[in-house]
Amino acid sequence: MVAARAAFLAAGHYAPITDALVAAARAVTTPGCVVDVGAGTGHHLAAVLDGMPGREGIALDVSTSAARIAARAHPRAGAVVGDAWRRFPVRDNAAAVVLDVFAPRHGAEIARVLHPHGSLVVVVPTGRHLRELVGPLRLLTVDPEKEQRLDRTLGPHLRCENTVEREFWLRLDRPAVTALVGMGPSVRHADLDALGACIATLPDPLAVTASVAVSTWRHGTAGGRRPQWGQPGGRVAAASAARSSSAGKGSASRISSPGRDDLTST
Ligand SMILES: C[S@@+](CC[C@H](N)C(=O)[O-])C[C@H]1O[C@@H](n2cnc3c(N)ncnc32)[C@H](O)[C@@H]1O
Repeated sequence: MVAARAAFLAAGHYAPITDALVAAARAVTTPGCVVDVGAGTGHHLAAVLDGMPGREGIALDVSTSAARIAARAHPRAGAVVGDAWRRFPVRDNAAAVVLDVFAPRHGAEIARVLHPHGSLVVVVPTGRHLRELVGPLRLLTVDPEKEQRLDRTLGPHLRCENTVEREFWLRLDRPAVTALVGMGPSVRHADLDALGACIATLPDPLAVTASVAVSTWRHGTAGGRRPQWGQPGGRVAAASAARSSSAGKGSASRISSPGRDDLTST
């Protein structure tokens, strides 16, 4: 999974997501580090650190192999192997920015480490994410309650400032489809031969929808109703329909513990 993720991200397929993270992070001026929860290979963290000179980054991931890669993702990044459902190895208020991209969201811990004027930037898939692959390859679908779940986990601790939908096309050849499927949770329980045979029947290249919601959360009145995705008149920006044609060094890992995993997407 980690190698597939590294290859897919390095090819730039998710560049619009990375760009959205960098833009949201750069808006934060308060002092502090950048913590990436469930950082995977540290790809997004590295881009954010590039956009925020002088900041240091911490990649937190339960996977030792992911953390090893993340530790080398950027000269100002370090990585820690740890369970994001437990206490983070980060001081109170130390993070100017917390990133959470397709990863577990422990609201209380995120709020604890986030500076009073810092921002949490969360990326979750919408129901349209990878829709051209979900049916044919029988991938796990996005939880239709995902928005409510985000409210439930983060709402008691932080206030949603805004949500922007990003939707763009991925133009994927078969190796890229294989990598995309290989980095997601569906592959864990799949018959890999059958999956490979299914992928071989798909058009090559294939246009696939990538569709995510990027939300920014800050300290403030907790429990407020979060704006609905794509709802006109709210604080929600309209979906951006960009067309994408698919276009270091750090500290060693430590702390290992098994973790709960509620991920439903890549
Ligand atoms: C879908 S991947 C996303 C990785 C990265 N954020 C990205 O977008 O490239 C989810 C990541 O969360 C990590 N993860 C899952 N459960 C975790 C837990 N309980 N604690 C820490 N990391 C966890 C996985 O190891 C994986 O690297």
